[in-house]
Amino acid sequence: MHVFVTGASGWIGSAVVDDLLAAGHEVTGLARSDASAKALEAKGVRVRRGDLDDPGSIRAGAEAAQAVIHLANKHDFTNPANSSAAERTAVQTIGDALAGSGRPFLLASGIAGLAADRPSTEADASPFHGPDSPRGGSENLALEFVDRGVHTVSLRFAPTVHGIGDHGFIAVIAAIAREKGVSGYPGDGSNRWAAVHRSDAARLVTLALEKAPAGSRLHVTAEEGVTTREIAEALGRALNLPVASIPQDKVQDHFGWMCRYISMNGAATSTVTQELLGWTPTGPTLVADIDAGGYSKA
Ligand SMILES: NC(=O)c1ccc[n+]([C@@H]2O[C@H](COP(=O)([O-])OP(=O)(O)OC[C@H]3O[C@@H](n4cnc5c(N)ncnc54)[C@H](OP(=O)(O)O)[C@@H]3O)[C@@H](O)[C@H]2O)c1
Repeated sequence: MHVFVTGASGWIGSAVVDDLLAAGHEVTGLARSDASAKALEAKGVRVRRGDLDDPGSIRAGAEAAQAVIHLANKHDFTNPANSSAAERTAVQTIGDALAGSGRPFLLASGIAGLAADRPSTEADASPFHGPDSPRGGSENLALEFVDRGVHTVSLRFAPTVHGIGDHGFIAVIAAIAREKGVSGYPGDGSNRWAAVHRSDAARLVTLALEKAPAGSRLHVTAEEGVTTREIAEALGRALNLPVASIPQDKVQDHFGWMCRYISMNGAATSTVTQELLGWTPTGPTLVADIDAGGYSKA
């Protein structure tokens, strides 16, 4: 299949591209810079120059392909409204471009906010609707396109898609620990995050492209939940720093914009996804990756 991938140069996207190519698919990647274009070309990927701020480039890429995997995100965590607006525009643009075609449209989503006090499941609908909600309500917007003849599949990634070279949330938490001289966790550290190794996530995306029914909400999670205390303890070992609880009234000050993420319930099961796709994660656990030095360097 000829697949247009936005975010093809990113942490997850670059592994997804490798897996798609290995499975025999043809890939065109969106690139917003010379460096990203060069990295994609070196893999034998066709490049479409463009930007999330240029919906015309996204539309043209979607129209020219047999499927779209949308992974690009601005990740402007200090101004989430900026990322959400771009995300919503991209999803609307891709949906409009694919309407009536029956072609697959896979998009990145997340676990946050699906369930308050238990691991979320694939049956949990996202409560986020509209432009002012997290990620601009993009999952629900994309799923609305199923009724307009688009084969939408939501990829709900674990809060940490980990591995060597990760610059996501765990790398940010490690940087905060280095800066503060202590590897902290919020309160009693009992809140949990689901986790998945990057290689397992990439494999799942290819399987989802090939097998997931329209309207699927898939959980790209291997470990159901690792406590924030276990994460802090592993980072403490890796960075040779003391480990401490950060009292609830100091969590915002200590973690800054990461506060809302490190405090959330991010636990999730993937039983339905594993059975649906015949997907069995085999990569290292999050703590094994931290212990192996994946987050030891600044
Ligand atoms: N990593 C995780 O643990 C995790 C967890 C949950 C959900 N997710 C979601 O999964 C998706 C992929 O995440 P990731 O970790 O791979 O992110 P990433 O490493 O930060 O990569 C982001 C990608 O988006 C591209 N991009 C950023 N701004 C752009 C713009 N204005 N126009 C066009 N492209 C732009 C980047 O291009 P350049 O290479 O040129 O910068 C890069 O290819 C995102 O939607 C993310 O929110 C990730």
